[in-house]
Amino acid sequence: MVREGLKVLEEAAERVGFRCELVHYDFGGERYLRTGEIIPDSAFEELKQVDAIYLGAVGHPEVQPGILEHGILLRLRFGLDQYINLRPVKLYEGVWTPLKDKGPEDIDFVVVRENTEDVYVGIGGTMKRGTPDEVATQVAVYTRKGTERCIRYAFELARKRNQDKKVTLCDKSNVLVHGHGLWQRVFKEVAMEYPDVKTETAYVDATCMWMVKNPEWFDVIVTTNMFGDIITDLGAIIQGGMGIAASGNINPQGVSMFEPIHGSAPKHAGKNTANPLAAICAGQMMLEHLGETRGAALIEQAVIEVLRGGKIPSLEAGKHPGTREIGDLVASAVASLPLPEE
Ligand code: IPM
Ligand code: MN
Repeated sequence: MVREGLKVLEEAAERVGFRCELVHYDFGGERYLRTGEIIPDSAFEELKQVDAIYLGAVGHPEVQPGILEHGILLRLRFGLDQYINLRPVKLYEGVWTPLKDKGPEDIDFVVVRENTEDVYVGIGGTMKRGTPDEVATQVAVYTRKGTERCIRYAFELARKRNQDKKVTLCDKSNVLVHGHGLWQRVFKEVAMEYPDVKTETAYVDATCMWMVKNPEWFDVIVTTNMFGDIITDLGAIIQGGMGIAASGNINPQGVSMFEPIHGSAPKHAGKNTANPLAAICAGQMMLEHLGETRGAALIEQAVIEVLRGGKIPSLEAGKHPGTREIGDLVASAVASLPLPEE
């Protein structure tokens, strides 16, 4: 996936006239099984110095679930304080959606997922383990600072994105009265500073229903880490599936990381059957973030062009051209499309 994404990035760099200086790291299941190492501290220090990180999916069938997720993905998100997980949900023309009677004009919103708090902090424990009286706790942590910076980011994004200018807070404050009560209060406070932005609140269960029934209602959804994880899988499928859903782990003041939202799908690994569009779109988000907006626009145009042309009839693995071939299609569109205006 990353190989194809880099192919497209290099082509965009060539076209627009910027240079990518790449440092490759082989962190993941294979290296872990070989050396027992996840991310050496020295490499972590190096990663703090780069402009951006382009991450391939991590996971390995022979590694116990949780090790690589915590050791790589969550370590980077938390360690680099990437407090926003930005997940656009956009249906491109020519892409199948499971939603009946909905098209590209209906499915175009962004989920701003808080990325460093909630149940992901790892506080909790077990007691009387393995007995019928076992107790387990997993604590959800929400701080005012973490909540506020996330909500503020969502309002700023709503201002920039389009004319809709609407932010929907997705929570469960009717049950999680303490934690999500804080989200509600902070949301109202921040909203006062953005009188030009419309606001709505929706409980997470209702949000799921509306994402299916009326996705056109949404512009920017801001939500907690756990709910954001869940609703963005739903978001991914309504935009055509995991094959195209990309995300950015953003630290606006630090190092950000871009990745497809899908997992490592070991059953497809090395077979040239999986679709690299999600990784390619993550590369596009990375360029956008780095201020290479022409390159980003060019890649998006290329993806749109390729999808519209019908050369990728389905995004489901095995039902589309090979991994390399899709990379080639997008790269050649990048090479031949007119350059976007500066
Ligand atoms: C995601 C993934 C991760 C998450 C896992 C792999 C830890 O599901 O990026 O959505 O829960 O955030
Ligand atoms: Mn997820």
